[in-house]
Amino acid sequence: MALVNAKEMLTKAKEGHYAVGQFNINNLEWTKAILLTAQELNSPVILGVSEGAGKYMCGYKTIVGMVNGMIDELKITVPVALHLDHGSYEGAKACIAAGFSSIMFDGSHYPIDENVAKTTELVAICNEKNLSIEAEVGSIGGEEDGVVGAGECADPNECKMIADLGVTMLAAGIGNIHGKYPDNWQGLNFDVLADIQKLTGKMPLVLHGGSGIPEEMVRKAIDLGVSKVNVNTECQLAFAAATRKYIEAGKDTQGKGFDPRKLLAPGFEAIKATVKEKMELFGSVGKA
Ligand code: 13P
Repeated sequence: MALVNAKEMLTKAKEGHYAVGQFNINNLEWTKAILLTAQELNSPVILGVSEGAGKYMCGYKTIVGMVNGMIDELKITVPVALHLDHGSYEGAKACIAAGFSSIMFDGSHYPIDENVAKTTELVAICNEKNLSIEAEVGSIGGEEDGVVGAGECADPNECKMIADLGVTMLAAGIGNIHGKYPDNWQGLNFDVLADIQKLTGKMPLVLHGGSGIPEEMVRKAIDLGVSKVNVNTECQLAFAAATRKYIEAGKDTQGKGFDPRKLLAPGFEAIKATVKEKMELFGSVGKA
């Protein structure tokens, strides 16, 4: 199946009260692990690419080629969207040109009028090309690609204003942060989420910073209208821990244990297990 935009999978998720996972990719092993797990679980999936990861993987065209090649060679039949994560205005245009099926324009750091103007322009381009587009209101806390946000809560009226521009899905800050949650984290603000949901109706809402949020909170957020949950750090931690275990056990020094196909295998399996756990939690298993 060719890449799809995220519209249909997220509309179905919103109606069915589950969420589709966006799993960020970092290299070939990551991408293969996520695609194979989605296929095994018959789940739709969104592959997220941050601008930093895009540079690391030799640019957007390389990524489009890799993902399309894998979908074909691995016989992936579940719906897969390739999505720019936290894109700049220029990054969004570059991904559209390279063949991504979905983009996020993160204009949350602009004054609201500028966020509206730039989002409006990108919505028109995405509509014309049948791509999905995610917008953001209220910065998500934590650090991503060197940008540190404070984890503010979005203004529900601003959310409505951006939702009405015709975006496909809307990321709204509700106290969530990227990366590990600090011990004194206050938790998600469900009152703000409920207010945003009330004003934005059928719009699929996106929960960023999906790593490390207690399961009960994730379930409640999905009940309140979240239809897409983004996960990156948890896959990275699982990959690192499994690789560390392999090396600390000295397996890289035994036989051909240094072969990258062996060295990276435990990390690959750890990503698969993490993605499976998340798809089960989000309720997307069997929904392809
Ligand atoms: P985590 O790294 O906290 O899982 O967040 C991922 C994310 O929100 C990507 O946009």
